[in-house]
Amino acid sequence: MYTIAVIPGDGTGPEVIREGLKVLDAAAGKYGFKYETTMFDFGGERYLLTGKTLEDKDIVQLKEFSAIYLGAIGHPGVKPGILETGILLKLRFSLDQYINLRPVKLYNAAFCPLKDKVPGDIDFVVVRENSEGLYKGMGEFRNKGTPDEVAIQISYNTYVGVERCIRYAFEYCRLRNKKKKLTLCGKTNVLTYAWDLWQRTFEQVAKEYPDIACDYAHVDATTMWFVKNPEWFDVIVTDNMFGDIITDLGAMIQGGMGIAAGGNINPRGVSMFEPIGGSAPKYTGKNVINPLAAICAGAMMLEQLGQAEAGKAIEDAVIKVATSKLQSLAAGKMGYSTSEVGDLVVQQL
Ligand code: IPM
Ligand code: MN
Repeated sequence: MYTIAVIPGDGTGPEVIREGLKVLDAAAGKYGFKYETTMFDFGGERYLLTGKTLEDKDIVQLKEFSAIYLGAIGHPGVKPGILETGILLKLRFSLDQYINLRPVKLYNAAFCPLKDKVPGDIDFVVVRENSEGLYKGMGEFRNKGTPDEVAIQISYNTYVGVERCIRYAFEYCRLRNKKKKLTLCGKTNVLTYAWDLWQRTFEQVAKEYPDIACDYAHVDATTMWFVKNPEWFDVIVTDNMFGDIITDLGAMIQGGMGIAAGGNINPRGVSMFEPIGGSAPKYTGKNVINPLAAICAGAMMLEQLGQAEAGKAIEDAVIKVATSKLQSLAAGKMGYSTSEVGDLVVQQL
């Protein structure tokens, strides 16, 4: 019996999570696993009512679950940063979900903005460090509000943090067993402290994985290659900030935010799965948002829970829906409503 903490969250989060749970339910029936869900109302509405984001006692409670399934965090009525740091980043950090795993896979060439790219050309995974770097929130203002103001934002990288991330990426690349190529994406030519540590650690860990081909690309060049030669990539490992940026670009080349899913992984603890698209306020409550990203996040969750067959079956059903039914992956242009897309995936399953 899996116990799943569900945080539908803000905006379109509840709408896409509803479809994700519909598909999970169908998968449980077909593959014979059992789970129960517990709903949590963390998010912008609750914050506006109570002034609370996520408390330490909530974290203690969440640690008892098999996994967390999250919709979206972000509310137009709340100043940017409060919910993000108070809920989403707090979850990632306090549950030590030190890997942010973001698959970039094109399912239907018609939905790719790149000319002449077909599904096999875009099939890679970004392993984003998820607990340190610029996201650590370290820094200070000096002389705030004066013409002499200095704002300092520190990228904090520990050997332990970098090593465990790089090791995870090598292991993942080996298990994935595709091109068996791991690309370190960094900025060694400018950020000479952080990326010196990353590069040294990469070279050190690489010695234990002679079966994996190693490569390095600067982050700016990586964005160029995502557009020009995405077929070069298999697994990419990078820091928190660069990973955030390149995975939005990755989402676009795989067909958009409607299809992009991610997992915040603690290999020895509680992991959390989410569509990466955010709360999409302008589509909220209209039943037009694409739920496939949330459904794919559910598939990733099942894989992590040890239900790889069910996870794969959901992905295959999503591929069928994305290739033979939908007119577009964009909100409002799918040719179906949010709930109809969920139904289509269940039918395929
Ligand atoms: C993401 C999001 C978050 C991030 C925001 C909402 C804090 O953009 O999951 O990529 O920057 O990590
Ligand atoms: Mn992001």
